[in-house]
Amino acid sequence: MIAGHRGARAVAPENTLISMKAAADAGAKWIETDTQLCEDLVPVIIHDKSVRRCTNGSGSVRHKTLQELKQLDAGSWFSPEFAGETIPTLHELLAACDEYGLNLNLEIKVHYEEEVTLQVTKTIEVIKNYGFDPERLILSSFSYNAVNQCLEQWPEVRRGLIIEDWVPDIDRLDEKLKLYSIHLDHHLLNEKLAKEIIHAGKVLQIWTMNDPKKVAKFTRWGVSTIITDDPALLISALND
Ligand code: G3P
Ligand code: MG
Repeated sequence: MIAGHRGARAVAPENTLISMKAAADAGAKWIETDTQLCEDLVPVIIHDKSVRRCTNGSGSVRHKTLQELKQLDAGSWFSPEFAGETIPTLHELLAACDEYGLNLNLEIKVHYEEEVTLQVTKTIEVIKNYGFDPERLILSSFSYNAVNQCLEQWPEVRRGLIIEDWVPDIDRLDEKLKLYSIHLDHHLLNEKLAKEIIHAGKVLQIWTMNDPKKVAKFTRWGVSTIITDDPALLISALND
């Protein structure tokens, strides 16, 4: 299975609605995207702590109101043809997933660990108020505390722990978090670790893997989902 990373960031400005559409148009059934809170405590869709890299503005997301964020251009930095794209709210993202028939791996992007409980509460509140189908949702995070809060606040929804720079002791981790999936930096994965994760009953997802030549190997190892910047490229490799 192929999931679009921040939409389809190889071909469209990451984490914008047009990037989600591009992932769907490429044939992806899932997207991965990042959410964090702005000053009004509204969950918005953007990766970095600051707006600088992906908009024409500057300053931290957390210290801008939604109105301020919505004035920023989140498309031109990528290419002039995307001028006028804005930073989506989580609510808008959910509506886009429905419109484009996408399942959602929502990464709770924690830039302020001390606010994790508030962030998870606000995120879940938006999803429930919107009425997004929980069967089409995975909540994921690098933050152990965020995943734990997801378990506390909405145990029915599947949870994934994102792992970058350490090799997990799956059994110990799972005692507490009751994970559905492990989302591993693909550089960390080898066949033995893949076997351990799958043997422990966890769904294995890898990121961010853009090399079509490696698709067959990872599939053979039992990887369920490849999160990629270029869904069209990897889907064509999968179908070869
Ligand atoms: O969810 C996997 C991946 O998105 C984690 O890394 O930095 O792209 O959010 P990052
Ligand atoms: Mg992410």
